[in-house]
Amino acid sequence: MAARGRVESAGWLSELFGRPVSMLMMDAQGPLLREQDVRTGGLVQAKISSSALEEMDALADMGFRLVESEVDFILERSGVTLGGMGTVVDDGVPVVEHGGVQADPAEGGCPVAAVGIRPATAEDLDRAGDLAAEGLGHSRFRLPWFSVDERRHLYRTWARAAVMGSHDDLCLLAGDGGDRGLVTLRQENGSARIGLLAVAPGHQRRGIGTALLRAAAHWGAQRGLAQLRVATQASNPGAIAFYQAQGARVGALSQWFYR
Ligand SMILES: CC(C)(COP(=O)(O)OP(=O)(O)OC[C@H]1O[C@@H](n2cnc3c(N)ncnc32)[C@H](O)[C@@H]1OP(=O)(O)O)[C@@H](O)C(=O)NCCC(=O)NCCS
Repeated sequence: MAARGRVESAGWLSELFGRPVSMLMMDAQGPLLREQDVRTGGLVQAKISSSALEEMDALADMGFRLVESEVDFILERSGVTLGGMGTVVDDGVPVVEHGGVQADPAEGGCPVAAVGIRPATAEDLDRAGDLAAEGLGHSRFRLPWFSVDERRHLYRTWARAAVMGSHDDLCLLAGDGGDRGLVTLRQENGSARIGLLAVAPGHQRRGIGTALLRAAAHWGAQRGLAQLRVATQASNPGAIAFYQAQGARVGALSQWFYR
């Protein structure tokens, strides 16, 4: 099978990294792709459904390489885990509540840390940027395609933009100092979608991720969005186990290719 589709500039990424980054939009009805179409002088990305085996072969024939597999999870508002409210304690310290969003150790089954969750403000730009830059190590923005500094720069910029309501609609921070974790969110096609989710490395496995996820679901529910969606990498078994523990189901499986 020959590859069909078109190559479009990924403007935001090109600007961010200071080099051309494009996206190959595969389209079975589109024009036949020629070598010169994908020879952009920069990186060309393609995201293919895991079931599109022939398209993957066609990409491989054009010199594309598999970079990462992506799992897109769906959490339903009616889900058992996301439905409830409870009392959160951290080493015996009662939680500071924000918007009634809490996690319940009795429901989640995990020891839950004290975690007030609040929207980030302009004063939190550096805090949010640091959390994202240091907390998100598993990524398709990886060597040899992207340097560690480029990956950090991407997530720092993304989180800072979300704080200002750009790219994502908002950023929520966990912890009284706002330095224990973050989640960024946007409304997309009738669902709430998580952009970034990270808990500071020294504070993981204490229920902070669960509390952030529930806060995200709460944000979506307030907007009448029944589903919360989040994509993660197949190379990140910790995150996959985390979403499964929250009752998430797989919505889609995709493969990322670069050339
Ligand atoms: C994934 C992440 C957000 C989870 O946050 P967390 O605060 O550590 O998670 P919780 O304490 O709320 O975990 C709840 C449950 O999820 C499961 N879980 C969480 N992390 C897990 C891991 N690394 N391995 C296996 N199961 C895990 C467990 O069932 C856990 O309950 P338990 O601790 O009682 O066994 C956090 O580990 C993180 O920031 N990781 C790095 C960044 C990342 O991968 N982000 C997601 C990218 S989309």
